[in-house]
Amino acid sequence: MQQTRLLVVGSAAGGGFPQWNCNCTNCQAVRQGDARYQPRTQSSIAWSRDGLQWLLLNASPDILTQLQRCAQLQPKTGKRDTGIAGVMLMDAQIDHVTGLVMLRENASALPVHATAEVFADLSDGLPLTKLLSHYCGIEQHLIEPDATGLAYQSITWSWLPDAHARVIPLHSKPPPYSPWRNNPRPGDNVGVTLINEVTGKRLFYAPGLGQLDEDVFACLQNADVVLVDGTFWTDDEMIAQGLGKKTAQQMGHLPQSGAGGMIEILSSLPASTRKILIHINNSNPILCEDSSERQILTDAGIEVAYDGMEIWF
Ligand code: MLT
Ligand code: MN
Ligand code: ZN
Repeated sequence: MQQTRLLVVGSAAGGGFPQWNCNCTNCQAVRQGDARYQPRTQSSIAWSRDGLQWLLLNASPDILTQLQRCAQLQPKTGKRDTGIAGVMLMDAQIDHVTGLVMLRENASALPVHATAEVFADLSDGLPLTKLLSHYCGIEQHLIEPDATGLAYQSITWSWLPDAHARVIPLHSKPPPYSPWRNNPRPGDNVGVTLINEVTGKRLFYAPGLGQLDEDVFACLQNADVVLVDGTFWTDDEMIAQGLGKKTAQQMGHLPQSGAGGMIEILSSLPASTRKILIHINNSNPILCEDSSERQILTDAGIEVAYDGMEIWF
């Protein structure tokens, strides 16, 4: 098999779409079955070469529903057996890690790749490593700096041959429960380039991106597919809609519209780059498929990820 496959397991931000307690225009419309809206589960993707063994990137609280819907992720036939061969965490946010609890019946310790900062939050503020030690346990694989000390080491898996992942630190925010929430460190949030060595194609994934630097921009420029933070349309979206008190930037997300926004950044990439937004918050007007905001994305050649979307590269 030349190409690897990437499955969008969940395309919404924390809370999902609709969010259980939300009556914003979007959540009401999707709940009423308005055909212009598609429900979405919380943030997660999966990567495989053979379709039998998958790397799960982020484990969302919706994982059991997601596994029921994505038959691809359960191709195994052993009495107790899973297609999830490994997990990689991009941060320690609730929408990205609490699905690990639902995987507690795993036959052996779950192999989980994360930075020291993420494992620290998961052994303290949200002590999942300790909790799961009473069930299947977590086999911790530290995402470590490489010999230069400037980048992380490349990660390979025996069951994902001729492919590797390169992780980079992102400017965003650790979770609200982290002691580092207002004092972010490199390693609290990472992005990852997934590289298929057979086709030479690269996909860059960064569901939580607060601000761009040269290294992140280089990853965007060098990727054939970018799957990036689509949380908010405007910086004051939550405040303007009366849904919250924080700006997108305060939550570690770069809004799409406006000067220096995600649309402007994506538009500066080569026309051949496939540009996709993921981790969409339920307040975002792009969730309405005939909105003017969605049309702006379409005109800019930017797609919006949906649950079940497959990307081959
Ligand atoms: C975020 O990325 O800011 C979230 O989606 C927060 C959350 O999980 O509640
Ligand atoms: Mn999130
Ligand atoms: Zn809502």
